[in-house]
Amino acid sequence: MDKIIIEGGRRLKGEVRISGAKNAALPILVSSLLADGVNTYSNVPDLKDIQSIKLLLTHLGAKIVSADSIVRIDAGGLCNYEAPYDLVRKMRASILVLGPLVARLKKAKVSLPGGCAIGERPINLHLRGLEQLGAKIELKHGYVEVSADGLKGDDIFFDVPTVTGTENIMMAAVLAEGTTVLRNAAREPEIVALADALKKMGAEIHGAGTSVITISGVNELHPISNEIIPDRIEAGTFMVAAALTQGDLTLTNCEPDHLKAFIHKLTLTGTKVHHVDKQCIRVIGPDEIKSVDVKTLPYPGFPTDMQAQFTVLMSVAKGLSIISESIFENRFIHVSELKRMGADITISGNSAMIKGVSKLSGAPVMATDLRASACLILAGLVAQGTTTINRVYHLDRGYEAIEKKFTQVGALIKRVNG
Ligand code: EPU
Repeated sequence: MDKIIIEGGRRLKGEVRISGAKNAALPILVSSLLADGVNTYSNVPDLKDIQSIKLLLTHLGAKIVSADSIVRIDAGGLCNYEAPYDLVRKMRASILVLGPLVARLKKAKVSLPGGCAIGERPINLHLRGLEQLGAKIELKHGYVEVSADGLKGDDIFFDVPTVTGTENIMMAAVLAEGTTVLRNAAREPEIVALADALKKMGAEIHGAGTSVITISGVNELHPISNEIIPDRIEAGTFMVAAALTQGDLTLTNCEPDHLKAFIHKLTLTGTKVHHVDKQCIRVIGPDEIKSVDVKTLPYPGFPTDMQAQFTVLMSVAKGLSIISESIFENRFIHVSELKRMGADITISGNSAMIKGVSKLSGAPVMATDLRASACLILAGLVAQGTTTINRVYHLDRGYEAIEKKFTQVGALIKRVNG
């Protein structure tokens, strides 16, 4: 299994091009199931999770051709309604095929995604939403089986805003009879990106990006060309890298507007953030990082997917900070690894109390989930000595060419096999 080895302590300087967003690409590639004909997607990141969704779509009968960051999907041959355990266990987001399969084939059988390293992650709200649209749900032998004579619009209230839940029900509702209203819907930019793609396909959707989304069902959709939006979490990760290393990084092809809450907090640490133009941002790290408290919240709040990276920043800040995680119940597993590198962090319930230390020291560490892996890379970049990160496959799920991008801006980072 690959490892990443970092010699820390280098100041990062230069330009990084941000890739397309994993969490926008996944539902948008899945939305190709909703129409016959060839959909063309550009700026698709080359990631393990994207390979997983392509495998699943192929298994369902879609034909896929990929070259560089362009992916063409023709779901005209959609014939299979089953997403098997072996494909779903590799990636929870596979659950996104549920809505489109029921909309197109009137039935779906999808292996239930289990919990994962960051929490239990139930899908009850996806299922309840489908049930309200008229689907019959059965849980059997680790699978959820959904059938419907025809979906009918309804008024659906989400107990908590769920990103993939909102996406799933939105994709089921676009071909349902009548009007569906989603209340307390998630407002993430990835929801807006999916709604924009669906609208291009001919769907009628209003209010995406607000907590009330209204969808008027149409009879059919048509294929489109669509560009995937930039990855806000990859951009945020490089911004923390600049902040940590007294660096000077210019990020191109990014969307700073999607990171307002994060940029606000980053600025309070003393980091300078210059908006060069709409899609370009320059980040200059301070001589001394100030402590800032953070609480993760659904969008437009501070993203949970940036919590682990911000924890590293606070580990070497001056003073005390508290980071509260309000989205997932178990998203502090990276902390025990950071402590092995010298961080002074105490966990109490869903909060981490961080006493900044003057330096971290390199160590062999183990990544437990995607963002925890990114956090360990950042810790390695600022630590004294060598950090070896094991279980790199989590990283490959969500960061395109990460060691190449860091090398280009001056990091001493390499991947070794075995
Ligand atoms: N929840 C329920 N019931 C449901 C669905 C969600 O109780 O049916 C709860 C969850 O347990 C959690 C909260 O609602 O406490 C929010 O979870 P959400 O459903 O929004 O998460 P998700 O859709 O499974 C997406 C991203 C995650 C990101 C979260 C939160 C994708 C493919 N995944 O997950 O991304 O952390 O939203 O923003 O879009 C990552 O990229 O590393 C990642 C984990």
